[in-house]
Amino acid sequence: MISAQTARQAEDCPGLAARLAAASILNDIVARYHPLDECFSGTAILSRLAGLEPRDIALTRSIVTVALRRLGTIRAALAGLLEKGIPRQAAQLEWTLIAAAAQLLFLEVPDHAAVDLAVRATRLEAKGAPYASLVNGALRNLIRAREKILQESDPLDHDTPAWLAARWRKTYGEDGARAIAAAHREEPTLDLTVLSEPLLWAERLGAAVLPTGSLRLSTHTPVTELAGYTEGRWFVQDAAAALPAKLLRVGSGTRVADFCAAPGGKAAQLAAAGAEVTAIDRSAERLKRLAANLHADVVVADIVSLKAPPFDAVLVDAPCLATGTIRRHPDIAWIKKPRDIAALTVLQARLLDKAIELVKPGGMIVYCTCSIEPEENELQISALLRRDPGVIRVPIAPDEVGGLPELLNESGELRTLPLHLRAAEPRLSGLDGFFAARLLRRG
Ligand SMILES: C[S@@+](CC[C@H](N)C(=O)[O-])C[C@H]1O[C@@H](n2cnc3c(N)ncnc32)[C@H](O)[C@@H]1O
Repeated sequence: MISAQTARQAEDCPGLAARLAAASILNDIVARYHPLDECFSGTAILSRLAGLEPRDIALTRSIVTVALRRLGTIRAALAGLLEKGIPRQAAQLEWTLIAAAAQLLFLEVPDHAAVDLAVRATRLEAKGAPYASLVNGALRNLIRAREKILQESDPLDHDTPAWLAARWRKTYGEDGARAIAAAHREEPTLDLTVLSEPLLWAERLGAAVLPTGSLRLSTHTPVTELAGYTEGRWFVQDAAAALPAKLLRVGSGTRVADFCAAPGGKAAQLAAAGAEVTAIDRSAERLKRLAANLHADVVVADIVSLKAPPFDAVLVDAPCLATGTIRRHPDIAWIKKPRDIAALTVLQARLLDKAIELVKPGGMIVYCTCSIEPEENELQISALLRRDPGVIRVPIAPDEVGGLPELLNESGELRTLPLHLRAAEPRLSGLDGFFAARLLRRG
């Protein structure tokens, strides 16, 4: 939290408050594992971002986002420039340097402004003040070394945490891992799911229609200002995230349970297909948005202990490591830890078992995650098929995923990656990493 005196000083110096906020938020995310979106949510705006103009909040977010995307490159560059490392006595110094380096290396901020504001921010902290000239010198050296730093920066070896790089090399091979990490460098544009008349909306919004049916925006206009937003004619959903609900093949009147439904993208798709949706999630807070926008039965419950009459079909959108969404949420790479996988896989297996218990014989289940880690996906399904002979896998066909066989694995499961659907322009390329398997409970 910024003190009242610091806040007054920041007010007198344009741009300083944004730099102070960026450094504090980076600390919150990387050292204290707060998710990026929460740091910029309504409640957070009352703390770190209090009193900032919308323009400064946008700048703060740009600094934080690019710093997270390129954190390894920035840390390696600073380590090379500070012989004795970053002084640990001044708590905020590391984050002030990282925020400044992010501006100097990756944003179009004038060099003198980035350096000057970092030096001022350092002076504002009592324990930082003695290091103001160190900060000044290090950042000036960084400017001199900029071209070399950028040339040598490697997306997999620098900007991917070592444990994730090792996992992806093992699962996707050297080339696959490199292509995934390279895709994380660029913030992708938004995809939309249109509930009806996609061609009309594509024309109105100047968007491309992807082979899978989603629209891909090329405009930089904020979504809230686009035609059809207020009327709810479409919603933002990555093209890969739009596939699992379609794979359930529901029709008019199908009674579907949407396990882990909030905030409700997939529930909206199921409802638009005519299904009678029971949307279940343990987060009452996250379900509020769904309940406001959708005609569905909304149930706040822990699914593991849920009792209900059987459904015709179940969608399980399981909580997961979310490593498939790092392009859009670069904080995931730094806040998730290898130890998280064990607890998640136990919960995912329980959710799958519950789905089988609550689907009618002959009923369909689609299990999906936005993770690219095999334990949460391919291995989770093969373990289920071994322990429950009452369930079979129903392979997905290429024509169900836009005629793109590269989105399916050998078992007929969906496996999308950020390296898929490549386009010339990086921001118009790629898909979130999603997995989905379709299962049938034997009759
Ligand atoms: C991947 S998100 C779901 C996204 C959603 N299906 C959509 O398309 O918008 C995972 C959700 O699982 C919920 N969740 C996690 N564990 C749960 C449990 N044991 N019972 C019910 N919901 C749970 C979380 O609250 C979270 O909303």
